[in-house]
Amino acid sequence: RMADHLRRLEMMFTLTPQRMRIIVEAFKDTLELGLSKHGQVVPMIPTYVFGWPSGSETGNYLAVDLGGTNLRVCLVTLNGGGKFEITQAKYRLTEEQKQEDAGNMKTDETYSLGFTFSYPCSQDRIDHGTLIRWTKGFGAPNTEGHNVVEMFRSSLQKYSVPAEITALTCDTTGTLIASHYVNPNTKIACIFGTGCNAAYMEKVKDISKISHLGIGEDMEMAINCEWGAFDSFEHEHLPRTKYDIQIDETSNKPGEQAFEKLISGRYLGEILRLIICELIDEGVIFLGQNTYKIEIIYSFDTAFLSLMESDPTDELLMIIGIFTHFFALETTLAERQFFKALAKLVGRRAARLSACGIAAIVSKMGYLEEGCAVGADGSLYNKYPGFADRIHEGLIDIFGDKGRNVITYHAEDGSGIGSAIVAAMTKIRKDSGI
Ligand code: BG6
Ligand code: GLC
Repeated sequence: RMADHLRRLEMMFTLTPQRMRIIVEAFKDTLELGLSKHGQVVPMIPTYVFGWPSGSETGNYLAVDLGGTNLRVCLVTLNGGGKFEITQAKYRLTEEQKQEDAGNMKTDETYSLGFTFSYPCSQDRIDHGTLIRWTKGFGAPNTEGHNVVEMFRSSLQKYSVPAEITALTCDTTGTLIASHYVNPNTKIACIFGTGCNAAYMEKVKDISKISHLGIGEDMEMAINCEWGAFDSFEHEHLPRTKYDIQIDETSNKPGEQAFEKLISGRYLGEILRLIICELIDEGVIFLGQNTYKIEIIYSFDTAFLSLMESDPTDELLMIIGIFTHFFALETTLAERQFFKALAKLVGRRAARLSACGIAAIVSKMGYLEEGCAVGADGSLYNKYPGFADRIHEGLIDIFGDKGRNVITYHAEDGSGIGSAIVAAMTKIRKDSGI
């Protein structure tokens, strides 16, 4: 019976190369639409980061990074020549802080400050950003629709912190700039963590929605795609299962971030948990055991999937550990093998969908022939076993052998260093009166 269930789930979660190519085409159209019109679902946000760093940016900068999991404060010293030093303090965000009223937030420290704020903000200049919507489960009231730089600035003032916010960047933009600083073949940056998103460098003349601004046509500007929103609301292109639909409908933002909800670390564990709960309800597994712990929403961390997939023992001892320790459940070997196979299905689908997003940018920008490097960061990319390999397999499924020309690599601390470099680039532009 378990084998039947596995076959059924395999059908649901497997993406054929043909299906992937169809998704890539729809994705490309969506990217183009976002560049041509304001207010699109995938907003393709112009970041006002003009072109690549030269590598000669120098000086001390403060970077504050509000990501999905942590708040980090970094002191970055850029030494030029692609070299830097970084000192940082990291704080894990509590659930209360994620919902805290925006009036009460605080931080400290000094200097010219790059603020990495990894949520969709529309910008009309580098030191300004209006939060379009919270993502990744955040819901702090009184923030959407507000200029988050101004909010941060006034709380810095409130605590008499002598720091000037010179640039607002998303983690993807920061990662793009930082990875190009150390590896100039980099053309795209992706985050696969609590959320999922990408940034790349676009020709200003191809960002038609800002053509009225009269920015030099020969210039380039980084675009923060906010691709996690791909296929939101309409749900036309992505292969959502009933589990994905359930996650969406019970989330704090139903309909939104449709692509992200199939891929990112915030949701993968929950997808697996919902499958397990369905099998419990059907009496297929854990009959006669008390299953209340695993029935708690979001109780199955995505880190468990990583651990399950990497369990090297025949008896699957790691999986025994997870189920007994965290959920007080006994498992048979057959069940453990089944769970491991399920983790693989969910993790593999996430990576293959990620490949579709990368392929859309590569194809749109014409990078396939010459090849390009993709700087990637985030807990899923860094910790999930085989995630990068599966992205690469996916790229080959989409593009054939040429897919090998596109290589992802771990970008070393993108957002801290990246936002410092952006702050430096902004300062250089200001000082030279551009
Ligand atoms: C970190 C980056 O490594 O990954 C952050 O430095 C980024 O900028 C983060 O926001 C994303 O991963 P996660 O798992 O923390 O959401
Ligand atoms: C979410 C955010 C986006 C961020 C990504 C990765 O998708 O909306 O801004 O880049 O998560 O952290």
